[in-house]
Amino acid sequence: MQGLSKSFGRANVWSDVSFTMPRGEINVLLGPSGTGKSVFLKCLIGLLKPEKGSIFIHDTDLVKCKSDKLYEIRKLFGVLFQDGALFGSMNLYDNIAFPLREHTKKNEREIRDIVAEKMAMVGLTGDEKKLPGEISGGMRKRAGLARALVLDPEIVLFDEPDSGLDPVRTAYLNQLIVDLNQATDSTFLIVTHDINTAQTLPDNIGIMYHKHLAMFGPRELLLTSDDPVVAQFLNGRKEGPIGMSEEKDADEQAAEAGGAKFAVPPMKPQLLPLDGGTRAAVGRRLERVMGMLHELPDRAQRAIVESLSPTERQRFGVNGGSAQHRDEPTTEFPRP
Ligand SMILES: Nc1ncnc2c1ncn2[C@@H]1O[C@H](COP(=O)(O)OP(=O)(O)OP(=O)(O)O)[C@@H](O)[C@H]1O
Ligand SMILES: [Mg+2]
Repeated sequence: MQGLSKSFGRANVWSDVSFTMPRGEINVLLGPSGTGKSVFLKCLIGLLKPEKGSIFIHDTDLVKCKSDKLYEIRKLFGVLFQDGALFGSMNLYDNIAFPLREHTKKNEREIRDIVAEKMAMVGLTGDEKKLPGEISGGMRKRAGLARALVLDPEIVLFDEPDSGLDPVRTAYLNQLIVDLNQATDSTFLIVTHDINTAQTLPDNIGIMYHKHLAMFGPRELLLTSDDPVVAQFLNGRKEGPIGMSEEKDADEQAAEAGGAKFAVPPMKPQLLPLDGGTRAAVGRRLERVMGMLHELPDRAQRAIVESLSPTERQRFGVNGGSAQHRDEPTTEFPRP
């Protein structure tokens, strides 16, 4: 995305949003309620049109392309809407088969195999005949996910897949997302308000705040950041520049000034695939992140180097401190 801006009438939602989602990686988008995350996802699939900027998928600019091209490009996307957006009068099987019947020429036997595979993936085998109204919220999310995956999308957008789920189901869903990313090597963009999800699931994190994309980068950059907005959001604190109606006013901020300064807590480990394997994105990401290491703040550099295996450290010619040295002053890394 390059220089993207979206307004409704005279009300600007966000402007000048630019970033690149690295292929096959898991990206999480955070931000206070009403900052335009859902609007952003809708722009990405061409349901809403930004008035400025470009969205490149391969070599096509979604903002400027013709409607037949947009229709083609949309097939590369899978979308899990916030409420699952299932058709209430169709059973789960027909809901999940819908995109295949609509967008492909596959016969019913082929469709049956694909639907069975996706339903097994999300743990819904045996629930084919149930109607959306007869199942729990968690099951609806998983059915929505199966439907989002049915065309083997290159890019999957999730709008709050974990909202309304209990902590145990959220943990299962996050594990499922990691395992799906391993199985598909598709690019994931997940909007969430769940801090634990943000701390453990993504390769990269973005934060929407104050009508722009305040920061987007590797998880180590945001999770070690002491930027007031980023640290407040990623640690779910009341103290900081974000208030109930997005931005605190001067009085509220002044009342807090001089209050306790919070230390950035240590990073939690990232969720790994259940089968002990490695996601294809991990190797590509390592190259990418090591290539930008020297552009990152010291704390992020240290977190990245600490996450490397001894062999990787040797390969990239860096010596990181161990976790005990977390608070020591800057470690010097040789420049390539
Ligand atoms: N179709 C629309 N027409 C006019 N305004 C809209 C439309 N869709 C969204 N908005 C406005 O755009 C802003 C961003 O809405 P959006 O739903 O993207 O927020 P969000 O970040 O997803 O919030 P939440 O975290 O609560 O889901 C809001 O002020 C909303 O009222
Ligand atoms: Mg939303």
